[in-house]
Amino acid sequence: MRHLMAQSTVYLLVGIFLINKHNASQICNLGKVHLYNTSISSEYEYSKIEGTPRLSAEKALDGKYHNHSHGCAGSNVMKAFGEAWWQVTFKSASKIFKINLVFREQYTRHAGYYVFITNRTVTYSELTSFDPVYHDEEPSPSQQMTIIFPEGHAGVQVFLYVNKSNPSTENYAVIEPCEVEIYGCVDELNHECACSSAIAGEKLTRWNSTVIFEHGSFSLRCDSNYLSLMNVTEFEKSQSISMLTECDGKQQCSLKTDSTIEGKSISFFCYNKCLNKNYTNTLLKYNFAEDIGQYPYDVRDPFTAFLKSRVFECEERHVLTDGNLTLQCRENRQWSGKAPVCNVTCQEPDHENDTTILEYGKSPMYFKDDNVTYTCKKNHRHVDGNLIRVCNETGDWTGKKPVCKRCKCPCDRVRSQNFISDPQVLKIRLDKLKKELEVHKEKLSKTVRAKTCAKDERTSVRGIGSVLGVGIITFMLITIVCSDFPLLYRHIRYGP
Ligand SMILES: *[C@@H]1O[C@H](CO)[C@@H](O)[C@H](O)[C@H]1NC(C)=O
Ligand SMILES: *[C@@H]1O[C@H](CO)[C@@H](O)[C@H](O)[C@H]1NC(C)=O
Ligand SMILES: *[C@@H]1O[C@H](CO)[C@@H](O)[C@H](O)[C@H]1NC(C)=O
Ligand SMILES: *[C@@H]1O[C@H](CO)[C@@H](O)[C@H](O)[C@H]1NC(C)=O
Ligand SMILES: *[C@@H]1O[C@H](CO)[C@@H](O)[C@H](O)[C@H]1NC(C)=O
Ligand SMILES: *[C@@H]1O[C@H](CO)[C@@H](O)[C@H](O)[C@H]1NC(C)=O
Ligand SMILES: *[C@@H]1O[C@H](CO)[C@@H](O)[C@H](O)[C@H]1NC(C)=O
Repeated sequence: MRHLMAQSTVYLLVGIFLINKHNASQICNLGKVHLYNTSISSEYEYSKIEGTPRLSAEKALDGKYHNHSHGCAGSNVMKAFGEAWWQVTFKSASKIFKINLVFREQYTRHAGYYVFITNRTVTYSELTSFDPVYHDEEPSPSQQMTIIFPEGHAGVQVFLYVNKSNPSTENYAVIEPCEVEIYGCVDELNHECACSSAIAGEKLTRWNSTVIFEHGSFSLRCDSNYLSLMNVTEFEKSQSISMLTECDGKQQCSLKTDSTIEGKSISFFCYNKCLNKNYTNTLLKYNFAEDIGQYPYDVRDPFTAFLKSRVFECEERHVLTDGNLTLQCRENRQWSGKAPVCNVTCQEPDHENDTTILEYGKSPMYFKDDNVTYTCKKNHRHVDGNLIRVCNETGDWTGKKPVCKRCKCPCDRVRSQNFISDPQVLKIRLDKLKKELEVHKEKLSKTVRAKTCAKDERTSVRGIGSVLGVGIITFMLITIVCSDFPLLYRHIRYGP
């Protein structure tokens, strides 16, 4: 018994794992237990071999992979067909969770193939009205391909289709499926493979696929979801690292096969993904897989897989003022934490401290529109540069370093004070003043309104407010240009 089973164990593993996983509902190999019919566009015939085996359609459903002449389906290559197809039809509507396609080992003629799942029985010429569930675009496609539909794909028929329009099919179309395993459930209540309660969906389901061939490559794909190859416990460290690098967090990946992974079951999860976003003034440093320890994976992917993180850093001259620089993809496609906000900063500008005094500065962090104010030391006058400098949007200070010089005779008061010669500074100051005046105006209006009778309050209040406002602004403008700014500023801010 053991002996008999040895050969097929590998091929049964997939099914056993799936059944174990979904004890709520029965997942079956539909091409075996729910087969209505199968066909192929033409049949290749080994005419020189005794018994002339035909590569008929049902050979893709017989559980045999290795012997091409006895275990595979194959279309005729003697004529230059423009199209080739293989199809299987089930007895009734089903839900497909997994398709495992096995082509020929060491002989690749299926470049550009399509997989269609149709929800009604059609002929191959009607396929153009369906969207393929998969189209392989590799010049040299994998010998084995496992596609997972985590939420299940409704269908009654599965087509493999090759179109000669693909240049790599050398202008003729051949389809050579050695085995097509379609796992799913049946939309009938009392069927042995009935789809009972909802399966998979957003839940983290572990999927398995057994590597059939030693030579060639093996591909995995999660339909519109990400592939997270998170369980590599059965592999050696070096091997698991290369698998993770290749597949973890990807929708589709391909592994080169060899004797060390042939016959082994690769287990993985298909899970919801988070859309990668860009944040202003923020750079992506690397993607991070916390569950398996830090290592960067492909940062060009437009999505990040469940439980994988993106690590950002603020652009040069920027610092984080809100949110998080590490975001993890959580359930329901949500990122953990808050989007990072990076703001531009200026380093405190240096000044000659033996001639100039830093009068105002909110060191150590300066953001856009923050300023520093200097005065000349006693018996010094301002000769060059700017006594008020503002942090601008590029993280630079406006103006130039202030230069104060010792006066030979007593300094003239006006010349030693802070003149605003920098137009940017002036503008910012005026904007601030205007804002403050708005506040004053509001207060004023309220006071006035409280003291005026209700009848005509609005016009009169507004009138008074704006007249006062304009008057004050004009007054200010004149004062700023002609006089001692810091004194005035303090006056406005803190009162006389
Ligand atoms: C088949 O699928 C199409 C969309 O792909 C849908 O519009 C149509 O209603 C489906 N038909 C049946 C019988 O489920
Ligand atoms: C087959 O190739 C033709 C020509 O490139 C293309 O228009 C057509 O859509 C293809 N058929 C399918 C089913 O993709
Ligand atoms: C990973 O695989 C091992 C061995 O097959 C198994 O014991 C373990 O439960 C798996 N882990 C997960 C999270 O599925
Ligand atoms: C995200 O940032 C907020 C503050 O912005 C902080 O309270 C929280 O702990 C951060 N979360 C993580 C996971 O670092
Ligand atoms: C940071 O920049 C945002 C706009 O990008 C702004 O709303 C916020 O006030 C800034 N924070 C600081 C501290 O400058
Ligand atoms: C002036 O600057 C020098 C170095 O530039 C520094 O060592 C010194 O402490 C400063 N003095 C004051 C009063 O800030
Ligand atoms: C910021 O200030 C620096 C130095 O004065 C200047 O070179 C730069 O053009 C300014 N940037 C902006 C956006 O005004």
